[in-house]
Amino acid sequence: MNFEPKVGKITFRNPFAISSIAGITDASFGNKFSNLVGAIFLGGFSIDERTIEASRRIALRGRKEFIFDDPIEKISEELRKARGYVPGVNVRASRKEELMLVSEICAKRGAILEINAHCRQKEVIEAGSGEILLRKQEILEDWIKSAKERGTTVSLKIRSGVVDEVSLAKRMERAGLDILHVDAMGSKGADLEAIRRIRNATHLFIIGNNSVRCFVDVKEMFGRGANMVSLARAILENPSVLSELNKSWKKHLAKLGWYNAPKHLCRGGDLRSLAFCCPPFRKCPLQRTLRDIGLSEKSYILLKKFFAERNGIKDDPFTCFGNIVWCCKNTKPCFMRDRALAEKGMSYKEYMEMKRELSEFILRGLRE
Ligand SMILES: Cc1cc2nc3c(=O)[nH]c(=O)nc-3n(C[C@H](O)[C@H](O)[C@H](O)COP(=O)(O)O)c2cc1C
Repeated sequence: MNFEPKVGKITFRNPFAISSIAGITDASFGNKFSNLVGAIFLGGFSIDERTIEASRRIALRGRKEFIFDDPIEKISEELRKARGYVPGVNVRASRKEELMLVSEICAKRGAILEINAHCRQKEVIEAGSGEILLRKQEILEDWIKSAKERGTTVSLKIRSGVVDEVSLAKRMERAGLDILHVDAMGSKGADLEAIRRIRNATHLFIIGNNSVRCFVDVKEMFGRGANMVSLARAILENPSVLSELNKSWKKHLAKLGWYNAPKHLCRGGDLRSLAFCCPPFRKCPLQRTLRDIGLSEKSYILLKKFFAERNGIKDDPFTCFGNIVWCCKNTKPCFMRDRALAEKGMSYKEYMEMKRELSEFILRGLRE
């Protein structure tokens, strides 16, 4: 069983990343956190004439920025220095030519190219980069396709709530995007619903971002389908936050196995959580969800029964509905489920692995 977060050929040590903070997150800053993170997004780097000029104007009003005469060379240098994590390069681009040069460097160095469609500083927008790109999706599509032709792992950094992120995510997934890095900015902390909506609509590797300060926040994002979470301000406010998260991560992994298992459907989990639902026997969010996804109650029951049969998961006399395919997450105490698991000689990790496979089976069934 392998529970490490993976995207394409890249495997991350753990599901924590540092997201870009302009003027701060370079390799010498990142290397201080080497063994504590899976990825660090260096930058944001302005890489062409118009965005460099935007950075200069931003710096004039007192904000920190990375400003280099030769940003392409500087990015190579930063990637040579980065140690002990997967580096990402967050770029503000207004032209394809320079972006493709960075794409080639990233491909050569096993780094992630992150297209910044997130920055909303007016100078960057005026330069035709950052958030404005969300409204020019044909450009993003073209850039992603070309970067993929160069063998680069591509991330797109967005802020939720700017455009319809579900249709954007689907379109970019079709163009070949690997990672959607979502600043799920809400009115009171992170908008977890945005992560859930994207998870339910795509297979993209999702990095959930915004207001993550402790492991409870991490679990909220995992439970809606994030594969990884990233932090920016918390790193500056509390430099030991990553050590704290790592301690909790090890305990979490040992207990749960399926590290980003969804929350139960009735608690706001994404569609993967159908693996933990009972048969539809009373009024609850299951009925509405099945209606929304166009799966009849009968087909849902048959899918689970077929999975149990195919995988030799025999009925038992202990659980509420006679088979553990109907049982809830191991985080919820239940002596009947535990008794059935003990009789089957099944550990919690094996149970959660079975549930992970069951969720994939149900979701595959939905697509067919
Ligand atoms: C001072 C500052 C500079 C930032 N610079 C960038 C940047 O260059 N590129 C980018 O994609 N995001 C940038 N961000 C956004 C962060 O990466 C992150 O998405 C945002 O702060 C929300 O995450 P948090 O709640 O963990 O801070 C910046 C944020 C701050 C506070």
